[in-house]
Amino acid sequence: MPAPASAKERPDSTGASAVPRHVAIIMDGNGRWAKARGLPRVAGHREGAEAARKVLRAAGEAGVECLTLYAFSSENWRRPEAEINDLMGLLRFYIGAELNSLHREGVRLRIIGDHSAFQTDVARLVDDAVAKTAGNRRMTLAVALNYGARAEIVRAAQALAHRAAVGEIAPAQIDEAMIEGALDTRDLPPLDLLIRTSGEVRLSNFLLWQAAYAELIFVDTLWPDFDGDCLRAALVQFKARERRYGGL
Ligand code: FPP
Repeated sequence: MPAPASAKERPDSTGASAVPRHVAIIMDGNGRWAKARGLPRVAGHREGAEAARKVLRAAGEAGVECLTLYAFSSENWRRPEAEINDLMGLLRFYIGAELNSLHREGVRLRIIGDHSAFQTDVARLVDDAVAKTAGNRRMTLAVALNYGARAEIVRAAQALAHRAAVGEIAPAQIDEAMIEGALDTRDLPPLDLLIRTSGEVRLSNFLLWQAAYAELIFVDTLWPDFDGDCLRAALVQFKARERRYGGL
């Protein structure tokens, strides 16, 4: 059995020397952080955006190539309208305040998920930020917006089914690489490490395909309290893990 593509691409698939190329984070616990302080939930999200800024910097300094943050899931539409508006406002503010420094620092912004469902001005701001930073090479920040992994896989299946229906490919040709090439993450490095904060131990429809061989780290820290030191501690844990990709 050949090693999966993600293992083949790495010089050291045991992970012994590795800084993960791609780290993804489920940033959970903003609401509980705020509640514990008697603050409105939006205060937790605001502090969460601050944590995202710190963690992005620490990831870049550690040599991580790509950081993917789960900022808005396709299930988040079930939250009260006021909270959705707060999250949109925060995204607007974050892009306005951070875009120039992201660009200066060579960060490329990528979006996964379907953010066209967002308020028009937010969707446009996001598109402009993606276009402005498209040529940056130092690091990629991928933000998951209106993202759900099952919907992503459905979109990939539909795209490949369409190509088969028009005779561009034969159904039997469809393999793992082709599916990977049709996912939103197609131009991101293979996912090495997935972190979830706040003590919840599940994937919640995040990067289900991509997490197949990722190391998983669950921490009790609430997202607004997660900082550069917490990320560095997770990177140390990652380094100690032995990655076998199904081998011995
Ligand atoms: C989960 O906490 C967090 C979210 C649903 C939103 C994450 C958004 C941010 C961190 C701010 C915006 C980020 C960027 C990159 C602009 P929760 O509300 O589910 O917390 P709870 O489980 O304690 O209620």
